[in-house]
Amino acid sequence: MLEIKNLNKTYDNGVKALNNVNLCIPKGMFGLLGPNGAGKSSLMRTIATLQDADSGSIIFDGVDILKNPIEIRRRLGYLPQSFGVYQGVPAYELLDHLAMLKGLINKKERKEVVDGLLAQTNLYQHRKNAVSGYSGGMRQRFGIAQALLGDPDLLIVDEPTGGLDPEERNRFHNLLVSLGEQRVIILSTHIVDDVSELCPQMAILAAGEVLRQGNPFELIDDLKGQIWRKTVSITEVESIEKELPVISKRLFAGQIIIHVLADSAPQGFETTPADLEDVYFSSLHQNKQQRIAS
Ligand SMILES: Nc1ncnc2c1ncn2[C@@H]1O[C@H](COP(=O)(O)OP(=O)(O)OP(=O)(O)O)[C@@H](O)[C@H]1O
Ligand SMILES: [Mg+2]
Repeated sequence: MLEIKNLNKTYDNGVKALNNVNLCIPKGMFGLLGPNGAGKSSLMRTIATLQDADSGSIIFDGVDILKNPIEIRRRLGYLPQSFGVYQGVPAYELLDHLAMLKGLINKKERKEVVDGLLAQTNLYQHRKNAVSGYSGGMRQRFGIAQALLGDPDLLIVDEPTGGLDPEERNRFHNLLVSLGEQRVIILSTHIVDDVSELCPQMAILAAGEVLRQGNPFELIDDLKGQIWRKTVSITEVESIEKELPVISKRLFAGQIIIHVLADSAPQGFETTPADLEDVYFSSLHQNKQQRIAS
């Protein structure tokens, strides 16, 4: 269990990346959903002990991460949003090297671990090829293999699915699911489907603030009877947006389906069951309105 309390971070340039963040993250997969610049990577780097917070605490299984970074690093795996790899170094050699740095000094033991992780991430048959030549999906799977060295209790993966094609994304999702429920896994993403497919617990982050957190089903249930739908043409959208709280516009077969958040049906709209996209977009919409008003 990971508990984040009153966490704040302002960068030297004045950007407040984390604004009093409070989160309770149980074992299993936790989705951190937010748009570009929400503060996802800032939060993950802080949990991974790679940068300091200004104030607040992060407690993992009773240990304060910010005060005991060295102890936590041993139990932590981290896949950063982007990572460089040495040109031309085969996957096996690179993972073997990283395993050594992680403290696996026994050669036989290390081989077992490295072989095992390459098999688990479906890279064993590609182990002699350079990671720098891997496709995006293979690279991300290698990223998970290195993050799993030392069998961490806390695994942090920062936007791992961006840029993957549907097949590779699916493969990556299956890999994450296979990692089990016995550790805390935090996955950041701006893709709502990543969360709806994988995460029994989630939070929505925007402009450094936690807007919602909980179980996706419960968050969806909170919107029951408040989402209304209409299919319109492009020319109609602007005037509707002026009058109604439009939370999303989705293109379908060349037309636009708009979703509106309201307690009762606006003229010409029909009811539609809420989904996680509605939860996400309505949270962002409300947050934006609040910021405009203040
Ligand atoms: N090292 C830094 N110095 C100054 N500002 C930063 C730094 N890192 C991030 N920021 C700013 O902090 C805010 C949050 O950035 P962060 O990278 O944490 O967001 P994010 O949710 O990960 O976004 P993305 O989805 O684009 O990866 C942004 O406004 C960003 O420009
Ligand atoms: Mg990021």
